Amino acid sequence: MRAAVVKAYAHPSKVPVVTDAPEPTPGKNDVIVDVYSAGLNFFDILQAQGKYQNQPPFPFTLGAEFAGRIAADSPIPRGCPYKPGQRVFGSGQGTYADKIAAPWNHLVPLPDNMTFDQGAGLFVTWPTSYEALVGRAELKAGEWLLVTASAGGVGIAACQIGKALGAKVIAAAGSEEKIEVSKKYGGADYGVNYKNPDWQKEVMKITGGKGVNVIYDPVGMIRDCLKFIAWKGRAIVVGFAGGEIEKLPLNLVLLKNISIVGIHWGAYSKHEPEHMTVVWQDLLKLLGSGRASPVTYTNVYPLERYADGLKELEERKTWGKAVVRIREDDTATKAKL
Ligand SMILES: NC(=O)c1ccc[n+]([C@@H]2O[C@H](COP(=O)([O-])OP(=O)(O)OC[C@H]3O[C@@H](n4cnc5c(N)ncnc54)[C@H](OP(=O)(O)O)[C@@H]3O)[C@@H](O)[C@H]2O)c1
Repeated sequence: MRAAVVKAYAHPSKVPVVTDAPEPTPGKNDVIVDVYSAGLNFFDILQAQGKYQNQPPFPFTLGAEFAGRIAADSPIPRGCPYKPGQRVFGSGQGTYADKIAAPWNHLVPLPDNMTFDQGAGLFVTWPTSYEALVGRAELKAGEWLLVTASAGGVGIAACQIGKALGAKVIAAAGSEEKIEVSKKYGGADYGVNYKNPDWQKEVMKITGGKGVNVIYDPVGMIRDCLKFIAWKGRAIVVGFAGGEIEKLPLNLVLLKNISIVGIHWGAYSKHEPEHMTVVWQDLLKLLGSGRASPVTYTNVYPLERYADGLKELEERKTWGKAVVRIREDDTATKAKL
């Protein structure tokens, strides 16, 4: 089968797709999934070069998120509710490949109103943003929410979820194009460009001088955002896409009576697996209702060109969720973007 197999650490541009990779061997609780689309992530670039926290032994296949169908010849373990041909999405090592073996209880059924491309970037980004806003920051209808990197994978999901919760959403991004994307596809009400030196004043003006109640930050810009946080505001630490782990003087936390909260969605599987089920139930209801819908970047590459997709991601050109299309969808699923 085809797969982007890493045999020695190198940038993905030097990791070609081979056609003679061995088919995955399913474990006791695994099903085999025909991968249709795979989500691109910055950490794939790090992992290919041996710079990521999770490094599988050589040789390994790159890619961590997917949507596809249970393969016709897949084993169906005891208790597994899936049937061959069923549409699912999930995560696992080695998704830049024709097939992947995955534990059935780590999969989620792909809603009918969604394409495989949309499903490929759902598994991590959407529950992260949902739990961050609902569980950690307790965002309420009518509050102001500001999202940094608002057109990015987790950011655009946060904009949509914020709108669905009834918040007034300010998109903050690094270009006018990304602000437009955040408004058009994320539903943001306002946009500010954080490359503009006066952007924090702009935010204060937009909120009528009140400031922002909840800040959702996947970049590492909390300190900058505390300039416009409201009294009793909540700032969510989501990530450090800017490349630096941010440090904060704690007097800033005291001055406006604020809370700084973190979100580490992956760690819920260890600490609160039962809560993950609750989040997925709520999310699938929201996504099924059509009030929120995953956004995918316009340039979708075939498997052989997965490294071109990662290059665009690395160069900060992508918006929404960038995906690789491994196979064309053979059904007439109509998804609303
Ligand atoms: N806590 C969790 O559980 C969790 C879960 C998923 C992801 N994350 C983290 O969230 C962050 C964003 O993930 P994502 O999937 O949304 O990524 P993404 O789609 O690649 O978006 C990242 C965005 O960050 C902005 N950015 C600012 N400075 C940057 C820099 N120096 N280099 C690259 N991008 C920069 C860019 O937007 P502008 O051009 O508009 O600035 C870029 O588009 C990552 O750090 C990821 O690890 C955390």
